[in-house]
Amino acid sequence: MPTSPQSPHLPFGDNVHSPWYGKDVLSVKNLDRKDLEYIFGVAHEMHGMVDRVGSFDLLKGKILANLFYEPSTRTSSSFHAAMERLGGSVIPINNVKYSSVSKGESLADTIRTLECYADVIVLRHPEVGSAAIAAEAAEKPVLNAGDGVGEHPTQALLDLFTIFSELDIGEIDGKTITMLGDLKYGRTVHSLARLLTLYDVKLNYVSPDILKMPQEVMDEVAAKGIPQAEYSSLEEVLPETDVLYVTRVQKERFKNPGDYEKVAGSFVINTEIMKAAKEQMIVMHPLPRVNEISPDFDKDPRAAYFRQMEYGLYVRMALLAMVLGKA
Ligand code: NCD
Repeated sequence: MPTSPQSPHLPFGDNVHSPWYGKDVLSVKNLDRKDLEYIFGVAHEMHGMVDRVGSFDLLKGKILANLFYEPSTRTSSSFHAAMERLGGSVIPINNVKYSSVSKGESLADTIRTLECYADVIVLRHPEVGSAAIAAEAAEKPVLNAGDGVGEHPTQALLDLFTIFSELDIGEIDGKTITMLGDLKYGRTVHSLARLLTLYDVKLNYVSPDILKMPQEVMDEVAAKGIPQAEYSSLEEVLPETDVLYVTRVQKERFKNPGDYEKVAGSFVINTEIMKAAKEQMIVMHPLPRVNEISPDFDKDPRAAYFRQMEYGLYVRMALLAMVLGKA
């Protein structure tokens, strides 16, 4: 946890004057360290409440429209669970084949429809910038659950919350974070690299040549004065790494399937390789994994990827409560 989170006290009252009330969460670009301390303070309290009482009625009467145009297991079900644990309810739309989208309805019209029925909208969509289009169309808050290869801000928030919680460091400053795998198409690393620029960290990028971190993200990181370097092999940087963030090669984004075959399986983490890593470090993955982390590593205490999913529930509970003026 950050050293001095501004811990709000449960139960929350209505707070339409809260700076978060009615806000969209489209990108990590406008967040600062104070925002993160606040979000993580609320997430920490959500964790405590779930442990103590499971569910409670903070968002009773509120409705979430959970709109997914791309596959999802964790993001959609954790937002769904977050809303239900807060006493609210959910309109789940994850098979757009059966919605009016298949009749040719525009995203803006679908969003205008859903906000007639719901208080907050979570959107995953294959196009970069789709969440911004939705937010433009909607009066109600829109949370970006992944816009193509663009951003995945709520994932980056839960990733950072995981890092704070797991490393038990209070301070992330001085740590080395190594991102591995598909850094070109992986939206989670685009958001996480940007978010980490708020701290005094060192970033390493390890990827096949055709899957490097986009220049746009690297330029933003450089502009914040954060040291970053690219590598083609993990061995060079594994011993100094405090957080190893592994990603899946995003097969669905390749125009040429032959290119996918060339790079699939380039990096596989297993117990043998991890002998070269520190004892006090963590391995993360947004999941799903295909074969980039061998299941033989799952029992290692450094394997944080299953715990990471649970932190996501608390962060998403916090965000829903905040944008609905209840935190
Ligand atoms: C990620 C995504 O959808 O970007 N998954 C997730 O939200 N946990 C990563 C991926 O699909 O590889």
